[in-house]
Amino acid sequence: IKKNFFCKSLIQEPFNAEPSRSPLISSSYVTPVDLFYKRNHGPVPIVDDIERYQVSICGLVEKSMELSIADMKKLPKHIVTATLQCAGNRRTAMSKVKTVKGVGWDVCAIGNAIWGGAKLADVLELVGIPNLASITPLGGKHVEFISVDRCKEENGGPYKASIPLIQATTSDSEVILAYEMNGEPLNRDHGYPLCVIVPGVIGARSVKWLDSINIIAEECQGFFMQKDYKMFPPKINWENIDWSTRRPQMDFPVQSVICSLEDVTKVKPGKVCDLLHVSGGGRGIERVDVSFDSGKTWVEASRYQKTGIPYVADDKSSDKWAWVLFKAEVEISENTEIVAKAVDIAANVQPENVEFIWNLRGILNTSWHRIHIHTELPDN
Ligand code: MTE
Repeated sequence: IKKNFFCKSLIQEPFNAEPSRSPLISSSYVTPVDLFYKRNHGPVPIVDDIERYQVSICGLVEKSMELSIADMKKLPKHIVTATLQCAGNRRTAMSKVKTVKGVGWDVCAIGNAIWGGAKLADVLELVGIPNLASITPLGGKHVEFISVDRCKEENGGPYKASIPLIQATTSDSEVILAYEMNGEPLNRDHGYPLCVIVPGVIGARSVKWLDSINIIAEECQGFFMQKDYKMFPPKINWENIDWSTRRPQMDFPVQSVICSLEDVTKVKPGKVCDLLHVSGGGRGIERVDVSFDSGKTWVEASRYQKTGIPYVADDKSSDKWAWVLFKAEVEISENTEIVAKAVDIAANVQPENVEFIWNLRGILNTSWHRIHIHTELPDN
């Protein structure tokens, strides 16, 4: 890992790191593993005895099972290109409005990888849960993922999360148990030997280092589902918070960030190449608007990544869970503010101001991304 790619110390425990802006998008549409952000709540566990590693599938099912990685590999391999984004991405900017609790992220706690593994639906079929089932005969309605790593928020217990059963069994479900990232076996930081990938949903629900899958009646009662990663309105503070009033955050709203420039960038008057990346919770990106005059006038950015992938989110062959790269170029002659906002296919737009979406945990900062440009006199 090249040091300048990461803002956070490598010896921090838990290990949290994000790449700098330009390398994230200049590298490629698919984020190399080294540049993929890392977010952990406890120490990264070492699962070294792969021969003995097994995932148990248990709970409200008629027959429980244990599956090894070799068993997983016997199931059809499903490949999905999906963007994973931490719910806390862009938290640092939100905490400038008013302090929030959580790891400070710039804009790069996001990455786009090609994940390979077994479909969760195929694994569930092995324990007698058919496609399209929303409840098991024993009353199971949620799929809980329990990991190997331990964290203090769970009082030393394992990290866990759940999704509704129907999200795993629905015909177009692409929830997978990934053993590969970008064509290579998963590495330790990203969940070796097995990581759940829940496309379109905040990263917190994609449980790494999977230990067991538990079919349960109510959603997971773990800390990160019940006392964290929930979206509250700005008036809620640590004195008046009632966690039970909100649902665990699942889908990620439409997001875009300018990756080619820092929040304050000095340029010589001339052409500024402005690159953006966007992810859209499976709904696909309709367009990205860019303003070079602080939001007074807007131009449409052009999509430039990867040819041959239809840009229609409901087309079977599209990378509908993946980010989209856009570009807009303009001549800059004076100090200005560049602003970007994306619109998804449901016409959802990013909110204008971070103040209105401020929340005490600093999650889901999807406000318009703003860059201040200071022009410098050209050299003689
Ligand atoms: N899974 C386990 N077991 N432990 C964790 O701390 N962090 C979650 C999720 N899965 C976490 C986990 C969070 S908050 C995010 S954003 C993603 O993993 C980050 O995945 P990455 O480190 O592979 O990028």
